Formats: sequence, C-alpha cells, structure tokens
Amino acid sequence: TTLVGLVGWRGMVGSVLMDRMVAERDFDLIEPLFFSTSNAGGAAPAQAKNETKLQNAFDIEQLKRCEIIITAQGGDYTNEVFPKLRAAGWNGHWIDAASSLRMQDDAVIILDPVNLPVIKDALAKGGKNWVGGNCTVSCMLMGVGALYKAGLVEWMSTQTYQAASGGGAQHMRELLTQYGTLNAEVRALLDDPKSAILEIDRKIIAKQRSLSAEETANFGVPLGGSLIPWIDKDLGNGQSKEEWKGMAETNKILGIGEGFGSPAIPVDGFCVRVGAMRCHSQALTFKLKKDVPVADIEAMIAADNEWVKVVPNTREATLKDLTPVAVTGTMTIPVGRIRKLAMGPEYVGAFTIGDQLLWGAAEPLRRMLRILLD
Ligand code: HSE
Repeated sequence: TTLVGLVGWRGMVGSVLMDRMVAERDFDLIEPLFFSTSNAGGAAPAQAKNETKLQNAFDIEQLKRCEIIITAQGGDYTNEVFPKLRAAGWNGHWIDAASSLRMQDDAVIILDPVNLPVIKDALAKGGKNWVGGNCTVSCMLMGVGALYKAGLVEWMSTQTYQAASGGGAQHMRELLTQYGTLNAEVRALLDDPKSAILEIDRKIIAKQRSLSAEETANFGVPLGGSLIPWIDKDLGNGQSKEEWKGMAETNKILGIGEGFGSPAIPVDGFCVRVGAMRCHSQALTFKLKKDVPVADIEAMIAADNEWVKVVPNTREATLKDLTPVAVTGTMTIPVGRIRKLAMGPEYVGAFTIGDQLLWGAAEPLRRMLRILLD
C-alpha cells in the first residue's frame, strides 16, 4: 500500500482532516506515516499501522520515503521544508492546506467537484503539487460553481462574513472570551427586565473599548459585538490580501485567466470578519452575460454537485437553513436568497455559506488523496 506522510494532523485543520479520513475510511487504503514538528519518537495516533512512531517532520530522509505527503502544518513549514525536499530529489505528490505554493505555475488549487478536469489535466502532465484553496473561495465555488462552468458569469462581487476560525484556533477562543467578558459586564442588568437598555449599551461599549491587550491579542481589536472589515495583509493598493485571493484563486481554480490564455473573470468585493465560529458566509452579486430565469439558475446550482443545496428564497427557509449555526459541521453548501436585483435582468444576487474547516480546508485535501490512489 501507498506510504502517505501526514504532517500537521494535530492542529485544527489537521484534526478535522483526520476525522474526515476516518469517516471515509481513507486509512484502509494507505500506510500512514505520521510526522511531528515537536514530538518525534512519540507514539503515532491509533490510525497508524506498521509505522507506530512519530517521525521528525523536518527529517528529509524520512519525508522522502513517502509517495504522498499531506500537510496542514501551515505556510512556514511548507516554505522551509518543501524546497529542501524537492532539492533532495523527492518526486512524490505534495498535498498542502497552506497558501504558500498556491499561485505557483506548477501547483494546482484542488477543489475537484469544481475543477476535476483541471486536476486531471495537470496529473496527465506530471503535476505533483496540489494545494487547497482559500476557504472563502472554495466554499463559494462549491455553491455557485455551476454558473462559472456554464460560462454565464461576466463578473461577480462578493461581500464576505468570515468566521473566527479562519484566523485559527486561538482566534475562536478569543472571540468566545470576549463574548463572555461582555456578558459578565451586564449580567445583573440583563437579569433585571426593568433595567434600561441604553445603560446596558453604554456599559458594553465602554467594556469593548477597554478590553485588555490579552483579550484582543489575536484580532487586535474586539470582534465580539463588532466586526473587522479587513482580513489578511494590506497589499498597499487599497485591497486586502483576502480580497485579492477572490479573483486570483477563483480564476486559477477554474483554469481561466492569465496563464491559461483566456481573459480572467473579475471578482472583487470586501472581506469582513464577523463573530461566527467556523462558517464563512458570502453575499454574492453576479452580472451574468445574459438574462437567465431564476428557476433555471436554481436548477443549475442544485444539479452541480451532491453537497450544494438550494434554499428557497423565503424568510422561513432562510432562517432555518441559511445560517452558520445550521451549516457548521456539515458538508452541505446551502445557496439561498437567489433573486434578480434591481439593476437589471442580468444582475443576480445569492447568499451562500460553507464550513470553513470542511470544504474550506480539509475536504479537498483528502479527496485529492483519493484521486491519486485511484
Ligand atoms: N484566510 C482565511 C480567513 C482562512 O482568514 O478566514 C482560510 O483560507
């Protein structure tokens, strides 16, 4: 059986990946070799077969033994180890959750329900580097990829509502700590139904503005009861890096744009951090190339893959099925609020949500493993 190296399997994305691999019985098909950056020599997890000791994740000779390596260890690890491994002559498949290699010409952004032809084409040409997409982009394309595949999209604008988990595990803890601090600040007033709401409001804003440095160490400012309209680096051109990724990665996933000999589809908008736990939501505006009836759009989206689910554009269905709370922990990608916008018949709005750790991170990696094992 194929020796598959696993790096970063203990972190948040890695743990979700492990759970999914167990659920889908991926370990039945491989001989796993577990690596660690901090505990080499320790015991490998229960999924280990013959290789029961953790190997040093920086040991190039051990890594070289693997036909396939899957890493969710993060970008710094990739930057340090991947070039050394290739320089040492390793010719195996590298499957990576981090963004470091994503935009390189010899890397494919993997999201097979959307771009299996791009993956197959790269495989046929000897491709070895497979990188998971930005979570927001992957979840968006799982939802509305059908419109791109049909060649209907002239441009798309996205306004995101991104969860704390996109920052990492510590960010999720920080958000909840802030919520707790705020609640504690006004608990007595909340318990008294006759207390004045504006007094509660005053106390909350005062507390938010005086949160300690420890309580905002990860986000830099309060997120609980607020929002942050900037995610990732400042590119210096007015755009955040997260916003830049929207267009760059969408086009690369679809195999269009610069480098593929076709004009890129413009994708732009604002990426906003909100106080959700692990589901990224997005309000999408499409300019379609022609006037397509809403019913046809819904049918195309619904038929695209087995995980997308069209939520009827009613208040009741939206509240029930189109919230981060409804979607978290599921593979379902709901797309709702689909309607024509006031700007004209080619303008369509939609709202979609995805679990940022599942389709946004772990799932495309294990599915790429399956494609390689086929
Ligand atoms: N950049 C994403 C976010 C994380 O901050 O939400 C996953 O790509």
